[in-house]
Amino acid sequence: MSSVIPNRPRIAVIGTGYLGTTQAVCLAALGFAVTAMDVDQDKISSLRSGLLPFYEPGLPELLQETLRTGRLQFSTEFERSADADVIFLCVGTPQSADSSAADLHFLDAAIAEIAPHLAHKCLVVGKSTVPIGTANRLRTLLQSAAPAGPLVELAWNPEFLREGHAIADTLRPDRLVFGVTSEWSLRVLRGCFAQPIAAGTPVIATDLATAELVKAAANSFLATKISYINAMAEVCEATGADVNLLAEALSYDSRIGGGFLKPGLGFGGGCLPKDIRAFAHRAAELGVGHAVVFLREVDAINQRRRQRTVDLITEMACGDLQEVKIAVLGAAFKPDSDDIRDAPALDVARMLHQAGARVTVYDPRAMPNARKSYPELSYAPTLASAVAGAEVVALLTEWEVFRQADPAVLGALVERRNIVDGRHALDAAAYQAAGWDYRALGTPAGPPARLLEPVMPEPARLSQPVVPEPALASAIEPV
Ligand code: UGA
Repeated sequence: MSSVIPNRPRIAVIGTGYLGTTQAVCLAALGFAVTAMDVDQDKISSLRSGLLPFYEPGLPELLQETLRTGRLQFSTEFERSADADVIFLCVGTPQSADSSAADLHFLDAAIAEIAPHLAHKCLVVGKSTVPIGTANRLRTLLQSAAPAGPLVELAWNPEFLREGHAIADTLRPDRLVFGVTSEWSLRVLRGCFAQPIAAGTPVIATDLATAELVKAAANSFLATKISYINAMAEVCEATGADVNLLAEALSYDSRIGGGFLKPGLGFGGGCLPKDIRAFAHRAAELGVGHAVVFLREVDAINQRRRQRTVDLITEMACGDLQEVKIAVLGAAFKPDSDDIRDAPALDVARMLHQAGARVTVYDPRAMPNARKSYPELSYAPTLASAVAGAEVVALLTEWEVFRQADPAVLGALVERRNIVDGRHALDAAAYQAAGWDYRALGTPAGPPARLLEPVMPEPARLSQPVVPEPALASAIEPV
């Protein structure tokens, strides 16, 4: 990896959480000189020594590699933004403690920290997910507080990366959205992302409000798709239909597509749940709450899946959870992450614990975080010790190690072979063959629906292959 490529903008990144660290490391990997800043001294010290304070596949290696080149630096001194041509704002916008609105105080604080040092022409680029109208407000704030005034421009470049895929999503995004107020800002942003653009990533240049809205709309759409299939799972449960086959059949319609159509325990994490609530809140403030009122139902469907999972586990425990030993497999909100924010798995574990069950949790990466937030639960150091003596096993985050587990080996460890697959991650037939009572959300109990009835004797005319008339064959060939 070469050192800084000359004549490139110098970059600062404010905030070294998940988004900021990924952004800083990836921009340094693309050849820019990057200084990432944060108020948290511990985090900065850890990053300086090449240690990531969260789990993301591939990122520690890239962090260490870019640190070695000297292109990437970490600092708590915000005056270093005085040397930057482009400053990315990557601070969190969590849900407010007292409402569903987004809490913007980290963003306001970041502007207050950097503005006094901006006495030169530069571009400040917001990446955080914000309520529509935030960018315009920050622009006014920035230009009135910065010594360079209107020479400091603001742009919005929403981030679409997924945890667990952060590097690929940053270096090869599906699209780049640049909310700008001038040709100059657009040119500078194009320069920062020249490599992905050259590799074919489409660029959509917009005004500030549209850029903010793209992010809220994208996350809302994804959440809606998940809740849609989970609503269908509820209907399947009432009819004996199979939601997996339904999702598969829907996915082949190219207008629908198969992405984000995986039924199960539903969505969690630090983004989708809070973003749909903040969007609904902002829309109501803008007088268009009715336009996104469906997002409340998206949220409600999602929450119902958690209760339904508890109900299914209770059914397997013959209606009473008191003192029932339950192994919960998974704590993170999704696999390949140690993030437990609004994690469906831990919410279900908490509900089971409150109902009197003896819950033991195992997760390959998220145990330290889970222990801190849910000290009332028990934790096992390995998958085998988590399931030992369990009366019900509940798979709630689909880590690969759980998919790969041998049902016969697990079966020898448990007290009773009851399993609830909250993520449709396991081979139902293999578990049933190993003597497990396998249950999943939205699929009928018993043998998989794909299994057909045994073939009965039938008239010959029904078993002959149907050969098209030669004259008609060309007419019915696919075009
Ligand atoms: C989400 C978006 O996918 C990113 O594009 C966005 O940048 C990010 O939020 C953000 O706003 O920062 P992320 O929260 O990392 O990314 O996770 P996802 O992969 O979207 O998964 C979210 C949740 O939905 C997980 O709990 C997952 O288990 C669940 N999910 C996902 C389903 O239940 N079914 C699916 O088909 C897909």
